[in-house]
Amino acid sequence: MLTGAAATGLAAGSPRRAFGRAPAVQTSSVRPVVIASGNGHTIRNGGSETCVETAFRMLTDGTDVLESLIAGVNLNELDPADGGVGFGGSPNADGVVQLDSCCMHGPTRRAGGVAAIEGVKTPSLVAHAVMQYTDHHLLAGRDATDFARNMGFTVHDDLNSERSRERWLEWKRRIDPGHYLDPKQRAWAGHEAGLGMMADGLISEHDFFGTINCDGINARGEICGVTTTSGLAWKIPGRVGDSPILGAGLYVDGTYGAAGSTGRGEANLYNLTSYLIVENLRRGMSPKDAGLDGLRRIKENTVEQRLLNSRGEPGFGISFYVLNAKGEYAGVSMYANERSRYAVCTENGAELAPLEPLLANSARD
Ligand code: GLY
Repeated sequence: MLTGAAATGLAAGSPRRAFGRAPAVQTSSVRPVVIASGNGHTIRNGGSETCVETAFRMLTDGTDVLESLIAGVNLNELDPADGGVGFGGSPNADGVVQLDSCCMHGPTRRAGGVAAIEGVKTPSLVAHAVMQYTDHHLLAGRDATDFARNMGFTVHDDLNSERSRERWLEWKRRIDPGHYLDPKQRAWAGHEAGLGMMADGLISEHDFFGTINCDGINARGEICGVTTTSGLAWKIPGRVGDSPILGAGLYVDGTYGAAGSTGRGEANLYNLTSYLIVENLRRGMSPKDAGLDGLRRIKENTVEQRLLNSRGEPGFGISFYVLNAKGEYAGVSMYANERSRYAVCTENGAELAPLEPLLANSARD
């Protein structure tokens, strides 16, 4: 397994801010940048830096881009205040936290992922170990946990925090036990109960759908990405979302760019949208146009009545974070409101930037 700072999620090196400094090695004209979903700007895990700040500092200090990004998302994974990622992430319907993650390393064209792994707070590091130490791309379930144990990761009995367990109990209370008679209705009743808790302000959209995606490029033009999540809150045990699936929750082409997502994973899986977006970059589209085109594909392919709102448009949120090989970037979202932001860190420091929406109004109108 990774050792030292990266393994603990603590940023390596000095805690000083590197913003405003010239990149360590400037052999191309690329301006280094790190982008992430909005939680990449909000969670500090008791420290002084966010995900994007940590990742940016490390990659401009010369650390491998993927190791830098993973050190960034480790802050979210290890902090129970981020209720959609890692330790304290939303558990499945049985109250068990099952985590998904994948990562891609553009320069070496390598990737790794884990799905429905239990007991390990930092699934992104296990995904990285799959990439580094195996010939495979994706390990799942109990075997992924065993792999992690064998690689030296600590495996905990339970990754719930007090808050994630309280919310799960409330969700259970809201389910009509009668629905258990019909597995299909039961699954939908569970989803409805979750949406009701969101409407009642008991869980945020972020924590319900979870996930952090983080992508970066250094001055040498090396592009990497990582996505990590506890998945959809109170999902059916064993459900794997888009996050660990290459092409869906994340795709990196070392020559053209990276895209990753947060939001309703099933919609993304159907379209392998991160792959589509990176292909759009390859064809010369800007990050914004490439991302909006991916959202348009999801909209076109969303035809089931239960997934549509009263306007006949997708009744769910989904966002993509897109970075090209020139260091240009965009965040796009099916819908956006004043809280819809994504994180960006450059030599000027970190900020939240507005997501570009495909559609007006909101998902549930
Ligand atoms: N996008 C996260 C999930 O659906 O699991």
